[in-house]
Amino acid sequence: MCGIIGYIGKKDTLPVLIQGLRRLEYRGYDSAGIAIINDQKIQRVRSVGKIDTLAEKVKDFDLSGTVGIAHTRWATHGGVTEENAHPHVSLDGKLAICHNGIIENYRELKDELEKKGFTFVSETDTEVLAHLIGSLYSGNLVSSVEAALMRVRGTYGLVVVHADHPDMIVAARMGSPLVIGVGKGEYFVASDATPLLPYTSDMVFLDDGEVAVISRDSFETFSKTHTHVEKEVTTIEWSEAEAQTQGYPHFMIKEIFDQPTVFEDAIRGRYDLEEGTARLSGLNMTDTQMRSVKRVILIACGTASYAGMAGKYAFERLAGIPTEVDVASEFRYRDPIIDSETLVFGISQSGETADTLAALREAKRKGAFVRGIVNVVGSTIARETDGGTYIHAGPELAVASTKAYTNMVAILILYALQFGRLKRLTPATGQRVLKALLEVPHKMNRVLEMREKIKEIARTYKDYHNMYFLGRGINYPIALEGSLKLKEIAYIHSEGYQGGEMKHGPIALLSKDFPVVAIMAKDQLYEKMRSNVEEVRARGARLLLIATEGDESAKSLADDVIYVPETMELLQPLVNTLPLQIFAYEIAVALGRDVDRPRNLAKSVTVE
Ligand code: M6R
Repeated sequence: MCGIIGYIGKKDTLPVLIQGLRRLEYRGYDSAGIAIINDQKIQRVRSVGKIDTLAEKVKDFDLSGTVGIAHTRWATHGGVTEENAHPHVSLDGKLAICHNGIIENYRELKDELEKKGFTFVSETDTEVLAHLIGSLYSGNLVSSVEAALMRVRGTYGLVVVHADHPDMIVAARMGSPLVIGVGKGEYFVASDATPLLPYTSDMVFLDDGEVAVISRDSFETFSKTHTHVEKEVTTIEWSEAEAQTQGYPHFMIKEIFDQPTVFEDAIRGRYDLEEGTARLSGLNMTDTQMRSVKRVILIACGTASYAGMAGKYAFERLAGIPTEVDVASEFRYRDPIIDSETLVFGISQSGETADTLAALREAKRKGAFVRGIVNVVGSTIARETDGGTYIHAGPELAVASTKAYTNMVAILILYALQFGRLKRLTPATGQRVLKALLEVPHKMNRVLEMREKIKEIARTYKDYHNMYFLGRGINYPIALEGSLKLKEIAYIHSEGYQGGEMKHGPIALLSKDFPVVAIMAKDQLYEKMRSNVEEVRARGARLLLIATEGDESAKSLADDVIYVPETMELLQPLVNTLPLQIFAYEIAVALGRDVDRPRNLAKSVTVE
């Protein structure tokens, strides 16, 4: 969703801000803007549409200066217009602000300001903040920001500059992330680490309620009551190169091809082959506590929830622990039954998903062990949970999640194994799982080598308006994930179903114009799935099968077959999902979609 970048240092700030905005594009946005302090004045330029448009527009202005802030806006309050784009300015034009989040009481604040004679040119809650801070300003920027925030209900990650204070950026956070990048004689501030990677790996993550005062040589952080807070500098291991497309046309296909490598990063040093167990150290639970766990709940949204569904199979089969998967937005409102023997994992690529975060807070309140399985280092979920594991997928910049999904599944399998070995699994079974896990990168590569063939098939499916994705057992969440990928990037309506459910209703829709993609892997449900596939076939629907290598009979059953290497059943999401990712990608490309930034979607969904 919206993105923030700010810079204060000795460099010309404009190129830093423009580059920062480009690196925030992946979050999704519809307008953008920049404000720079130049000659004791705020110079502001905003535009609707792509950063390229803004980059062209700024050429007509004198935007030299060494302190500035910029923003990508994803419309919430008010339409996509230049007036609504950030930064917003105070009435005297001396103060500029960029804000992520939602000010819930903005209407009452706006009424109050209007009565005092303030006029508004936008429909945004952020302009209200600009005027509120401006109205409280009498020479001390920090205290006027702090006083304004005392009046505000809602969420914010914000940065403020003032023409009278050319040596200062004030930043504040409540529910919407902000990261300070520590350079030499320069500081950066952003809504996530990605735009800072070209400049520094040293980051400071603000916590809720904190205000940071950033100058060229130092920064200071305060609590809500203006007490000094000591902050730790975290070194991020992501490299600048990882955040580039590296010759691929899109981040999504690059990230699909990253999977064998980042999978190895996820499991490296985290297993013990001899003991047949996993060694995930961040759980912060004793063996006794782990043995006391009677129930696991996996909380997540979207793709992460499908990774959770795959993890449920692993937890139940390997550890024998009843496991539920809950979509975060539902969990907190259904008064879930939780006790101190419940272990809750929040699974999230961004670590910032508002629904997941709120659900985890609820679980914590009710006394569960709450742990995170997260990709983004230092993210809110990573910091608010009492332990857990980073999935080490590296920066995932395409909106459609791919490599984070496989690494989430990998970590869930390792956790299931670790619990299983403490409870009931033999070393031999543990070793068998680990050996199969070690073969996964090779099998992923075998699927990736088939890209051309998958592309050829995919392109013949591009003109359909509907599709079903079918699977059973562990392949059911894979079907859901395949269907989600197709919807979000190709904009083709599709639904994922359990193969066995078709005859209970959905089969009524099948016709020659309604194709089916079915995962018919050689596993314990093979015969059952095969019958479901026959039922589909009998209705004249076009059929694409994802089948196991060597299953020659699949050819006579389907119009198209993509063969995948045979894999231990629990590990199939790590291999069988890849052809579906490529399938959706190639269709989206053939249809000319904006693959990395699909319409209406944001990478990090920070509003409920
Ligand atoms: O950052 P998170 O993993 O918490 O995000 C959860 C979902 O918003 C995300 O997986 C979404 O469904 C993706 N667009 C899927 O490709």
